[in-house]
Amino acid sequence: MALEAEIQSIVQQFEYSDGDVNNAVKEFLRQMDEGLGKDGTSMSQIPTYVTGVPNGTEKGLYMAVDLGGTNFRVCSIQLLGNSTFTHTYNKVAIPKHLMVAKTAQELFAFLASEIKKFLEEHHSEDFEHHIRRRKTVSSPSGFRDEHIFRMGFTFSFPVKQVGINKGTLIRWTKGFDIPDAIGKDVCALLQAEIDKLHLPVKVAALVNDTVGTLMARSYAAPGKQGSVLGAIFGTGTNGAYVEKLSKLKKPLSGEYDQSTGEMVINTEWGSFDNQLNVLPSTKWDVALEKDSLNPGFQMYEKRVSGMFLGEILRLAIIDLLNNPNVSLFKDENSSSNDRGSVTIIAKDSGLYKQWGLDTAIMSTAELDQDAELAGLRQALENTLDVYAPAYEDAMAFKKIAHAIGRRAARLSAVAIGAIVLQTGKLDDPELKDEPIDVGVDGSLVEHYPGFRPMIYEALSVIDGIGEEGAKRIRIGLTQDGSGVGAALIALVAAGMEKSASGADYLSERSSDNKAPGPAAGDDKTTTG
Ligand code: BGC
Repeated sequence: MALEAEIQSIVQQFEYSDGDVNNAVKEFLRQMDEGLGKDGTSMSQIPTYVTGVPNGTEKGLYMAVDLGGTNFRVCSIQLLGNSTFTHTYNKVAIPKHLMVAKTAQELFAFLASEIKKFLEEHHSEDFEHHIRRRKTVSSPSGFRDEHIFRMGFTFSFPVKQVGINKGTLIRWTKGFDIPDAIGKDVCALLQAEIDKLHLPVKVAALVNDTVGTLMARSYAAPGKQGSVLGAIFGTGTNGAYVEKLSKLKKPLSGEYDQSTGEMVINTEWGSFDNQLNVLPSTKWDVALEKDSLNPGFQMYEKRVSGMFLGEILRLAIIDLLNNPNVSLFKDENSSSNDRGSVTIIAKDSGLYKQWGLDTAIMSTAELDQDAELAGLRQALENTLDVYAPAYEDAMAFKKIAHAIGRRAARLSAVAIGAIVLQTGKLDDPELKDEPIDVGVDGSLVEHYPGFRPMIYEALSVIDGIGEEGAKRIRIGLTQDGSGVGAALIALVAAGMEKSASGADYLSERSSDNKAPGPAAGDDKTTTG
């Protein structure tokens, strides 16, 4: 009974009421506005220099790379111009030591070497042709760049963007920590390493994964209105939305197209409410914070995203294990332990290590509706070395995991709801019957059972949205933001290069050339 009472008390501490949701939406809107007005605010509201979303007719062959979580991805994408595309990609795990390397150069040299491998493997003809030409052709103006790939660089960390392919790193998140890189232009760092290897690649666009998601969603599912928001609920969390230029009050340094009257803003909502004005804070949130790599930052992310939920759960479980009044994962409580063996936790169980509980098991717990919780009990053995857990143990684990996941989903609704309200589209009479489209990606929305329904439930209680409004918000899974989305921004960038220089290299290759080979895209297509 003591266990049951303890669980109820823990679950109750993760409650996030309808009133809490509404308060947080108001604060979110206030902090969004603050970030549009000046630099150095909690939510950075970073202008991306992308001034429109695609309509599905864009064409061309581009490269894209993606650094932002556990893997580095390199790909080439052929946009076919009919809302579809083909692509080829390589994926490699980022060696842990490079995530905390001494110098930025070490990490970026690794990225460039992976790009080289990809080109050798998938575009060898162009690669060798380029190397030959480099050796034989020289001109006073330098090597003409008509035969180089335009590459979108998805770099999913907070960056102060000062142009479509320029931006300095504000801070690392998600377990990366290379102080040497802070304040440096990440595109220049990558280009320098690419050039050392003489690769035919130009880093044409700097892309946050949320911006890529927004672009990919608009390309693949174009509606009358395009999508209003691209969001990630994965290892980290963040969102990018289309804002009116008139609301963007802080000065912009780089060039951009003013004709659409809009710009995509990377909110960096992971740092919403670092001050904790409205975010909930249990003792386990506080404990996680104390031992995190970036205390005081990404406070919203630490309550919402996949990197952190498992750790919150682990800390709550450890508290229960240390509580002499309750019996969890101990044999004396395993009256209904149908395996008939002794419940033990291995000494080196992940339960005893920081980050030792992978959030993925929360999905298993949520999914398991079996009367004996057989799947979850197996997962506790397999992934956490908790042997022969009793049904009551697994149920305790499941209830706490659910409470943490549910709070994360309701907090996610705060961000989505606030941005929908900010766009004003629910009240626009011309859009009366139109869906308000939101593209999402990331392991939580993809794999956590019921995450989206829990978001919808919370959206429907937000003032100004309500049940009717929530029904109009269409949240769709959009993968490949960092591939196709990044390629689309490289295309925007190529268009900007052309108009700035009057160069004719873009037209040299046919935009709908299906054969592999570097092309800069169809300069006749535009975004917006
Ligand atoms: C980063 C964002 C990114 C998000 C999702 C956060 O930690 O700060 O830039 O978009 O993770 O990957």
